[in-house]
Amino acid sequence: MDDDIDDPEPACPPPAWASDVIDACKARVGLEVYPPSDDTFLLLEALASDITLLCRSSASLLSKSMVCLEIGPGSGAVSAGLSELLKVEGAKDAKVLPFFMAVDKNPAAARCTSAVFQAREVMVADVIQGSLTDCLRQSGFADVVICNPPYVPTDEDEMQGCGISVSWAGGSRGREVIDVLMPKVARILSNRGLFYLVCIAENDPEELLENGRALGFLAEKVKQEQRGMEELFILRFQKATESS
Ligand SMILES: C[S@@+](CC[C@H](N)C(=O)[O-])C[C@H]1O[C@@H](n2cnc3c(N)ncnc32)[C@H](O)[C@@H]1O
Repeated sequence: MDDDIDDPEPACPPPAWASDVIDACKARVGLEVYPPSDDTFLLLEALASDITLLCRSSASLLSKSMVCLEIGPGSGAVSAGLSELLKVEGAKDAKVLPFFMAVDKNPAAARCTSAVFQAREVMVADVIQGSLTDCLRQSGFADVVICNPPYVPTDEDEMQGCGISVSWAGGSRGREVIDVLMPKVARILSNRGLFYLVCIAENDPEELLENGRALGFLAEKVKQEQRGMEELFILRFQKATESS
């Protein structure tokens, strides 16, 4: 991908229930932040399909608080969408209390996410400019981890810095960020936690599922769709605890 080439319009519309969230993001992204796109929408659809499972992921025995961490939130669309879903679903019998944390390498994305979280009244624990989980020291604290990573196969050069190109530049096989991230997620995820990862065919989703199993996850492909030029996948990894 090239900075000079305008992003194409998404091939599919956002899920109808998320249209207000997407409009709030589009109004704030500017030119330096990854706009809500087909991959964003497919991830939102996967989270909506899994909402009952998500409501059961809270590790806390004392309260129904749920820590949701997004790595690379970009505009903030996915976490803000999940927050909407949990407001509706969590208010039913599950009564979960979600808190959102987000870490993005791009400072403009961190600012955009903060603004969208405020506009959409997301319960925020923290929005941090940083890389992956490097600023998060505690193990086992996250109940839900979400990441739509930079997955496009590119040269190393394109991965440098913290501007918009880090939204897509995934280096060799588009796997360089994903392969560093997965063991880190295994460390920070709680023992009933769920991890959702977006990838494309070029990243070898089957190999990613195997790598997840080697890290002790139950690993499954929950969505696979051609959207525009990309064959997109949503992978779900779950801590394989004794009761699983
Ligand atoms: C494909 S965009 C996804 C944005 C948003 N989650 C969505 O689905 O629309 C990837 C995001 O990851 C961020 N990112 C790239 N490398 C990162 C890193 N090492 N640590 C944290 N965020 C990173 C980018 O700045 C960008 O916002």
